[in-house]
Amino acid sequence: MSGSTFGKLFRVTTFGESHGPAIGAVIDGCPAGLPLTEEMIMPYMEKRRPNAGALSTSRKEADKVKILSGVFEGVTTGTSIGLLIENTDAHSSDYSDIADKYRPGHADYTYDKKYGFRDWRGGGRSSGRETAARVAAGAVADLLLKHFGIEVKTEALVPNAIEYQEGDSVGGLVTCRVTGLPAGLGEPVFDKLDARLAAAILSIGAVKGVEFGSGFSLSEKTGSESNDGFAVRISEDGSKEIYKTSNHAGGILGGISDGSELFLIAAVKPTPSVSLPQKTVTRDGEETEIRIKGRHDKSIAPRAAAVVSAMVSLTLIDMLMENAVCRLDSLEKIYKK
Ligand SMILES: Cc1cc2nc3c(=O)[nH]c(=O)nc-3n(C[C@H](O)[C@H](O)[C@H](O)COP(=O)(O)O)c2cc1C
Repeated sequence: MSGSTFGKLFRVTTFGESHGPAIGAVIDGCPAGLPLTEEMIMPYMEKRRPNAGALSTSRKEADKVKILSGVFEGVTTGTSIGLLIENTDAHSSDYSDIADKYRPGHADYTYDKKYGFRDWRGGGRSSGRETAARVAAGAVADLLLKHFGIEVKTEALVPNAIEYQEGDSVGGLVTCRVTGLPAGLGEPVFDKLDARLAAAILSIGAVKGVEFGSGFSLSEKTGSESNDGFAVRISEDGSKEIYKTSNHAGGILGGISDGSELFLIAAVKPTPSVSLPQKTVTRDGEETEIRIKGRHDKSIAPRAAAVVSAMVSLTLIDMLMENAVCRLDSLEKIYKK
């Protein structure tokens, strides 16, 4: 199975399945010198943790992260950072009576078609559980971004949860705002910042759409309404500063960050596991009914918000590092004698 590695210079590989002994991540490319402890990662895990809110699954995972390598005396050493999270509350028996049935809205059918095999215990690698490893790695990326004054903030918006019937689920939105981002991140032409962010966010299970700035609504506007005008102001040190008077572009022009706030929205579909009866088929092609037991999020959006944060942080730190070598004068600052 390929596809478990993300990033170019700040590279993250995740491993593990929902109902295996553990999941985790290996980060290659983190600069030496960053203060890093397990305690510093835990607030990020807490935001994604099951049972974090009323709409969450009742699976109770401690999500304690062990740092296995790459850190000495609380500081990164520049070598690969191994992060391990044990699965302590996996109930595989919840899934045994649906082992030969395809759950609607899940990856069961497509994994089986692709590999001729699937791990039916909670979706295996396709489970939302995998995203805990991304959040642990994203914490390291976020701590690096904070070092440069860059703040990534996400918020989940869920439709009124009271209004749907018992046993069903709802979708939601995740908004993300990034402040302090310098102009210049993004590599023309295939590695545009918005292209890389979109790929990162769409790699999260259940995320079905992403828009930047005014996004899809721009298709109904005129050019003069949509363009962000430029103006000049005098900054605190007395120098002239160019800024935009609006931000329909969401902080990205031509695939490159423009120095204003980066704003994006991710659309999250309703949790596919619902306990209401659904029509499906067995592996042998017999039509049947499925009732899904197990412990599931009523809306994925609140927990997905932590994962969107992680994927945005991982993308931004990677592109910040790529941008550092795009000019001769930047290289001269490091190497010229
Ligand atoms: C943080 C997170 C938690 C999730 N929790 C659940 C869950 O409790 N139950 C469920 O059916 N799907 C859950 N999912 C979504 C499924 O993993 C996903 O919908 C499924 O693998 C199919 O992928 P697709 O929706 O991208 O097609 C979760 C996803 C994320 C990111």
